[in-house]
Amino acid sequence: MRHIEPKNVEVREVFSYLLGGVVPRPIALVSTLSADGIRNLSPFSFFNAFGANPPMVAFAPSRRGRDGTNKDTYHNLLATKECVVQMVSYDMVEQVSLASTEYDVSIDEFTKSGLTPIASDIVGPPRVAESLFQMECKMQQMIELGDGPSSGNLAICEVVKFHIAERIFDGNQIDPQKIDLVARMGADFYCRASGEAVFEVEKPGLKIGVGYDQIPDVIKESKILSANNLGQLGGIETIPAENEVESLKKELMQIEVDDSKFEEYLSSADYKKMLALAINSCGENSDELGNKIEQSVKVALAEKDLNFAWKALLIRADNS
Ligand SMILES: Cc1cc2nc3c(=O)[nH]c(=O)nc-3n(C[C@H](O)[C@H](O)[C@H](O)COP(=O)(O)O)c2cc1C
Repeated sequence: MRHIEPKNVEVREVFSYLLGGVVPRPIALVSTLSADGIRNLSPFSFFNAFGANPPMVAFAPSRRGRDGTNKDTYHNLLATKECVVQMVSYDMVEQVSLASTEYDVSIDEFTKSGLTPIASDIVGPPRVAESLFQMECKMQQMIELGDGPSSGNLAICEVVKFHIAERIFDGNQIDPQKIDLVARMGADFYCRASGEAVFEVEKPGLKIGVGYDQIPDVIKESKILSANNLGQLGGIETIPAENEVESLKKELMQIEVDDSKFEEYLSSADYKKMLALAINSCGENSDELGNKIEQSVKVALAEKDLNFAWKALLIRADNS
């Protein structure tokens, strides 16, 4: 590990660690109006949401790194206390990057970026038509976090109206594949939160899992099961009883399997046949038995059959 105390290194270096390590950051594309009514549009990735009642978002129009002066968005927010925060989808990312250019305060960044202004319902600054998720906001607080170059200013804003494109919904849920958002990483990197980058992890919710500590040691030492697999196993609410494991064993003994087809069962995710083959064809306490059972546990977990996975691993623990 590198161990770094910020007070011992240059601000530029601290900044690059935050930019590279605190990722991926969602991007707020913020429109504001100056006191003279000139439109401004800039992206900010020091940004997130912080509660729903009332709905609050915050982002940081920080001081400039080169001279410590404040940005136009900061001045506009102090002058008008209003903004629109829009989320950035993949199709608009290059125009959003263009809007981050440090144009003079007199320049309308809608014109420069080519993004389309449309009237808001409650606040003065216009919305960006291209964004699929727009939030009209009233600023509640601007917290200055320092007074030197690259110091943050935290603009805390209440959302007073959402505008969300009908086409990104799946029922009442926003579909990540349809909103297709981008996020900021370090250096010039971005990432796209859609396709295979998006996956599901079931929320524990009110379920109280037995915990990692209840997993038998032989399973924790597995070379086949990953740390994520062990995390899934720790989430079961009740460990299957001995009689349930015995009845699974009996059931598996009735299943006809072809000893040469383990790989075929694996590729079709038939974890029941994988386990049946393991216990019907491998010698007791053999490495091969342990190995094949663990592979069936892994597939059962991928298929979200936690109960089966636990029964299989209890058979495995018994045979170790
Ligand atoms: C994707 C992206 C994210 C950015 N995030 C921030 C940020 O969180 N804070 C910040 O001060 N500047 C950030 N910037 C730089 C500002 O967008 C840039 O300084 C902009 O010109 C400020 O405009 P303004 O002076 O019109 O407010 C970001 C730039 C890009 C492209």
